[in-house]
Amino acid sequence: MVDLEALEAEARTSLAKAGDEASLDEWRVAWLGRRGRLTAVLRGVRDLPAEERPRVGAGANRLKSALEEAASAHRGQLLASAADAESIDVTLPGRTPPLGSLHPVTLTRRQLERTFRDMGFDVVEGPDVELEEYNFDRLRIPAGHPARDMWDTIWVADDSDSGEGKPRQLLRTHTSPMQIRYLERRDPPIRVIVPGTCYRYEATDATHEWMLTQIEGLVIDENLSFAHLKGTLEAFVRRVFGADIETRFRCDYFPFVEPGAELGVRWQGDWLEILGCGMVHPEIIEDAGLDPERYTGFAFGMGVERVAMLRYGVQDIRHFYRNDVRFLRQFEGRR
Ligand code: DAH
Repeated sequence: MVDLEALEAEARTSLAKAGDEASLDEWRVAWLGRRGRLTAVLRGVRDLPAEERPRVGAGANRLKSALEEAASAHRGQLLASAADAESIDVTLPGRTPPLGSLHPVTLTRRQLERTFRDMGFDVVEGPDVELEEYNFDRLRIPAGHPARDMWDTIWVADDSDSGEGKPRQLLRTHTSPMQIRYLERRDPPIRVIVPGTCYRYEATDATHEWMLTQIEGLVIDENLSFAHLKGTLEAFVRRVFGADIETRFRCDYFPFVEPGAELGVRWQGDWLEILGCGMVHPEIIEDAGLDPERYTGFAFGMGVERVAMLRYGVQDIRHFYRNDVRFLRQFEGRR
């Protein structure tokens, strides 16, 4: 005996549960497919006793059309509600699509720039491909001078016939050449920073990369002393790292400043040097056409990756440019 009513009730209950087109297809296979429940009943009709066949055969066929109709009606409802969901409700607030995020060095560079801007500095940029003259000679680092060893250099090859006698080009090893370029164009008072990428022909390790970001600073005016340098940089460091940060200045040598110094901050028990600085050498002021008796000033050059390492607790500088998304994703959503 086949209870067609019970079968229909079961089929309709399970059809009502099909919430999307995929489950509707599954339902169709389970009930009306070649191996479906109702198909099996229809196929079994011929094995029934003769007196049963007409009743069950006709009933099962009627049920088949009824279920096909119910399925297509159900499909119509599913499509209608999907269309509802897709229609645009203009009163909803906007949603931000996933747009990627800023690189930790960019985040740090922007924070440092903002801080200097708040302190009254202008921001300019300069060329990555620089002339030897600006990168070295006019910063009092002539060819053959031992100080050139401080900056291992990537030279830009000149493929023309001889290249002889032509000015040599390089990828800037530091942002300091912009001190000279800025002094060529502007008169004091000068208060400017120059963020930018620098390049060195250097083996890499946990604290050295062949590509790095610096922020150069230059301040020129009347009556500026080393006290202004110290006061400015200490105020800057406190704004970036907090009021309690410990700092120290130590003597250092850079050919374009006199005296020269480095600034370290105390970080997790260690001293970390974050910038070089000093009073702009009087010859550089004089070369710019200014009277070094009247104008003085100070300069500094800061390593942005160094600051980013402190800020985010990054142990190895090489993480920054390896572009491993597992590293980069950790900075998602930061500003
Ligand atoms: N240009 C130097 C470097 O790359 C850093 C530096 C030191 C810049 C002293 C300065 C400065 O402006 O006064 O190592």
